[in-house]
Amino acid sequence: MSIKQILCSPVGLRLKVLHVVRIVIAAIGRIFFSLYYGNEGQKIPPITDEILKEPTIEVAKKIRNKEISSVQVVEACIRRIKDVNSALNCFVEDRFELALKEAREADELIRSGSTPIQQLELEKPLLGVPFTTKDCFAVKGLRFTSGVVLRKDFVSEEDAGAIRLLRDKGAIIIGITNVPELCMWWETHNHIYGRTNNPYNTTRIVGGSSGGEGCLQAAGGSIFGVGSDIGGSIRMPAFFNGIFGHKPSRGIVPNSGQHPAPETDLIDSFLGVGPMTKHAVDLKPLLKIMAGDNKNKLKLDEPVNIEKLKVYYQFSNDAPLVDPVDPEIIMAMKKVLEFLNVQHKLKAEEKKIDLLRKSMPIWLTNMKTKQKFETLIMKKEGVGAILKEIVKNIIGCSGNTLISLFTALTDHTGAEVGSERHIHYLKVRENLEKLFTEMLGDDGIFLYPVHPTPAPYHNEPLLRPMNFAYTAIINCLGLPTTAIPLGLSREGLPIGIQVVANHNNDRLCLAIAEELDKAFGGWVEPQKS
Ligand SMILES: *[C@@H]1O[C@H](CO)[C@@H](O)[C@H](O)[C@H]1NC(C)=O
Repeated sequence: MSIKQILCSPVGLRLKVLHVVRIVIAAIGRIFFSLYYGNEGQKIPPITDEILKEPTIEVAKKIRNKEISSVQVVEACIRRIKDVNSALNCFVEDRFELALKEAREADELIRSGSTPIQQLELEKPLLGVPFTTKDCFAVKGLRFTSGVVLRKDFVSEEDAGAIRLLRDKGAIIIGITNVPELCMWWETHNHIYGRTNNPYNTTRIVGGSSGGEGCLQAAGGSIFGVGSDIGGSIRMPAFFNGIFGHKPSRGIVPNSGQHPAPETDLIDSFLGVGPMTKHAVDLKPLLKIMAGDNKNKLKLDEPVNIEKLKVYYQFSNDAPLVDPVDPEIIMAMKKVLEFLNVQHKLKAEEKKIDLLRKSMPIWLTNMKTKQKFETLIMKKEGVGAILKEIVKNIIGCSGNTLISLFTALTDHTGAEVGSERHIHYLKVRENLEKLFTEMLGDDGIFLYPVHPTPAPYHNEPLLRPMNFAYTAIINCLGLPTTAIPLGLSREGLPIGIQVVANHNNDRLCLAIAEELDKAFGGWVEPQKS
């Protein structure tokens, strides 16, 4: 077939050819990357403070019962961060002195006995527990850059909504973690703080955009974390770093105090703020706090009868330009299906939802706004300015990352807001949402890959740019979803799945996460073996 024939052929065929070409390039790239990065990587020391391995709710209980002091827990986190950060580069700004002061106050409140323990448990369930969040949430007094060089001296005057809710319940924030430039890519790298390395193998990515957070949680440097997710930014880092991450139902956890802020109500409905933890049992209590007054909508305390659930699953979206799902991930999904069948007599039903093939055009088109991407990362506007910046990047003197500049360029292509294509994909999104809500009802869950491959090498996502289709499409539907770790691959990299439920049925995802944590072992300490 000649180039001309390919270019003039119907869209379907053209996509297929493009798909094959991309797979070939990615395969060649893989060899290249493995030669370039395929060394041992850097070692991180084992976790020595046992408290760092425990669930948030246990740490909170031990602090309340004076089995350990808040100061001791904060100090353990600080030690651990200092031990691992030279190899991982995940933690970017601290408030250690202030955190220690708050820890001493928490210990004093408990020691004084002025408030009965039961009352403290109700009013301040996280009293004295240290946590971290990504550098796209405002934390009073800390830099708030979102990885954008233009913002490198920006300091927050108040806390983001979700951060405030947690601090009001006694949690102590110790610092913030790295993100991709403007949080708009799935490898964590920017020109303020550099690149973050995977704790299981530092030659690999941590994912994004809550990549520093996923990394720090997995490495045991913080008791729990807060992430945000508009296309997979909680779930991909949870998956690549072997921890749990929950993106809540739309409109539950406040999105205030984030940069970039969602521009329209539709995009706001895609963006979810949620917990990232080593242990599934922590997701529910943290979500309950982060949901503020909306918590009643989720009926989180209503028991879930797993035996009565309807289970649907799909192994692959068969989308063009997306990698096939790794056989080890398919195998892990099959083990989950078998477990649910043997333990809970659940017969899962396989789905072949055809519209999922369109995940990327649906997400990309629905994410379009009138604001041009480059205005958020550069002083100048327009294609010429972007091209100039790309040249500067290649010679190593741009404040922007190459991928951001490409993203800015592609933002000048594709469907304009209000165009026929744009309106078409708004409708397709609605149809897919209807299909999902009807399938899931009030007792259904959907098992789906989080991502088609375990953590790739640094920079490799450039050759596999559309692989976040598996997470992104769920954002478009506003559905709750939890990334669940299922052990390590043969190469020693975390793998897992996501479980999706209907709107405000987050408790079904969380119940399955707890069940699979017990059955499959959940988080495993990095580089332990
Ligand atoms: C990290 O990955 C490289 C390349 O695949 C491999 O050679 C190395 O053994 C891995 N390191 C660890 C600690 O597993």
